Amino acid sequence: MADNRPIGVLDSGVGGLTGVRVLETLGPEEDIVFFGDSKRAPYGDKTSDEIIECTMQDVAYLREHNIKALLIACNTITAYAILPLQKKYPDMPVVGTIIPTTEAAVRTTRNGCIGIIATQATVNSQAYDAELKKKLPEAQVISTACPKLVPLIESGHIGPEDDELYRVAEEYLVPLREKNVDTLIMGCTHYPIIRDVIQKVMGEHVGLIDSGGASAKSLLESLDQKELRAEKSRKGVTKIFCSANRENFLTIANAVLNRDIGADLKQI
Ligand code: DGL
Repeated sequence: MADNRPIGVLDSGVGGLTGVRVLETLGPEEDIVFFGDSKRAPYGDKTSDEIIECTMQDVAYLREHNIKALLIACNTITAYAILPLQKKYPDMPVVGTIIPTTEAAVRTTRNGCIGIIATQATVNSQAYDAELKKKLPEAQVISTACPKLVPLIESGHIGPEDDELYRVAEEYLVPLREKNVDTLIMGCTHYPIIRDVIQKVMGEHVGLIDSGGASAKSLLESLDQKELRAEKSRKGVTKIFCSANRENFLTIANAVLNRDIGADLKQI
């Protein structure tokens, strides 16, 4: 049985589109409804109660679009709200970033030294550390909160030649490079947008793990298992909603999705 209802995708801002671009590549027949809560971003500086409250409102909005499944393309929301969401919505698959991303990291590392960069809230939750220790008990895990990165990316500092971005990236990443991590989890879905800068600072030998991409793959696998994929013959449509700064959001979203999404983007 095919199910042509859309997949809902949630992030606090534009970063979750790094999950959408993988969904579009691997599941071109799927309709997607994305909501980026740019008005209330960053979520990474909020308390656990605030993150859960905002998330429940965001998901109620996505559910109005008759979604068949939910991709939490946000590590901060995954760290605090994935279990309450899975409990509240047993009728649909709800997939987050942390489990699929740690699986990819464990497959990638050779020396067992894994770095994590993420928002302050994600680092505080220790959700990644716990999941990595479960899968690879001997791993040496080093986490760094990068609170300046989401606001920089949301305000359009995404170019590989952006001096301010490069300076901030060095501030966070050089200590990780010096500790010899061979695998770095980009534990915030905004970070793959600045992948080139991160790779340049870390060096080509470091494997970068894209949490948006890993979670998108995992969601499609879950739809396959539950026979919830759309008909292969159709061409999916992506609708994108943000809650503030439409023009700025559009510029970054066009760069992430590599096309002009102007007609598909609405501010609510
Ligand atoms: N993309 C979100 C994440 O993966 C950013 C969170 C924020 O708004 O601080 O954590």
